Amino acid sequence: MSGAGAGRLVDKAAIVTGAARGIGKAIVEAFVAEGAAVWCADLHGAEAEALAAQLRDAGGKVEGGYCDVRSTDSVLDAVDAAVEAFGGLDILVGNAATLTPPATVEDLGEADWVQALAVNLTGVFHLCKHGIPHLKRAGGGSIILTASQMARVGTPGSAAYCTTKGGLVQLAKVMALDHAADGIRVNTLSPGGTATDRLFSRYGSPERAESEWGKTMHPLGRLGRPEEMARGAVFLACEDSSFMTGADLLLDGGYSAR
Ligand SMILES: NC(=O)c1ccc[n+]([C@@H]2O[C@H](COP(=O)([O-])OP(=O)(O)OC[C@H]3O[C@@H](n4cnc5c(N)ncnc54)[C@H](O)[C@@H]3O)[C@@H](O)[C@H]2O)c1
Repeated sequence: MSGAGAGRLVDKAAIVTGAARGIGKAIVEAFVAEGAAVWCADLHGAEAEALAAQLRDAGGKVEGGYCDVRSTDSVLDAVDAAVEAFGGLDILVGNAATLTPPATVEDLGEADWVQALAVNLTGVFHLCKHGIPHLKRAGGGSIILTASQMARVGTPGSAAYCTTKGGLVQLAKVMALDHAADGIRVNTLSPGGTATDRLFSRYGSPERAESEWGKTMHPLGRLGRPEEMARGAVFLACEDSSFMTGADLLLDGGYSAR
């Protein structure tokens, strides 16, 4: 297997949602290091543009801007912009997710439930719906959906999140079957607890996230790093995973082995 920065994605074009921060940002950086052209799509459009500009300055082929995955038109605009910039698309990464307040179904507000489904699940539907025709035009490609270890195990107070992530695993399996003949592979990437703003805001600080979630819940004794998840995404995007489709790549430090 070739190593990082070995050009495993040369001549490939990708779009990544939720690209401005955390795991999405690390995926963008890793894809660019492997030679891909990348469109960074994010609700924080200015941050996505700034990331793209920074990577362009370092020699990458990177563009980006505002995209709200809840809106089919917004996702279509981002996909069209990526195709215009790069001449086509080979890789889709559905990574954006919203934060849902912890609550049981009894206590969770209906608006929070709807928001979780709209961003985490329907947002991916929008990306695939508008992106797949371009992958077909390219003669195939790879679709990566960021799920979670929570797709496999439940955790108290996370009904909406776990439901959307379990849904992504099923969505990937069905799309893998529907599009195998098109040369399109579809897999999920399931991080365990990973050191990003998502967890820092939930626990109040990086230190508390590490001690209260990383150390206690993960047999490897720590949170994952965004770069570790990005390495999995590169594997799924490139020919190293050429016989893998409809599968879930679990990178959870042993969380769900218990
Ligand atoms: N961090 C973890 O512990 C962890 C664990 C398992 C799975 N995941 C999954 O990994 C993915 C990335 O998580 P992260 O920790 O990097 O999150 P994050 O909150 O740090 O970043 C998420 C990004 O998505 C963007 N976003 C949110 N709503 C959007 C929308 N409607 N349209 C477009 N962009 C939107 C945000 O602006 C942000 O840049 C998510 O799917 C998350 O569920 C994270």
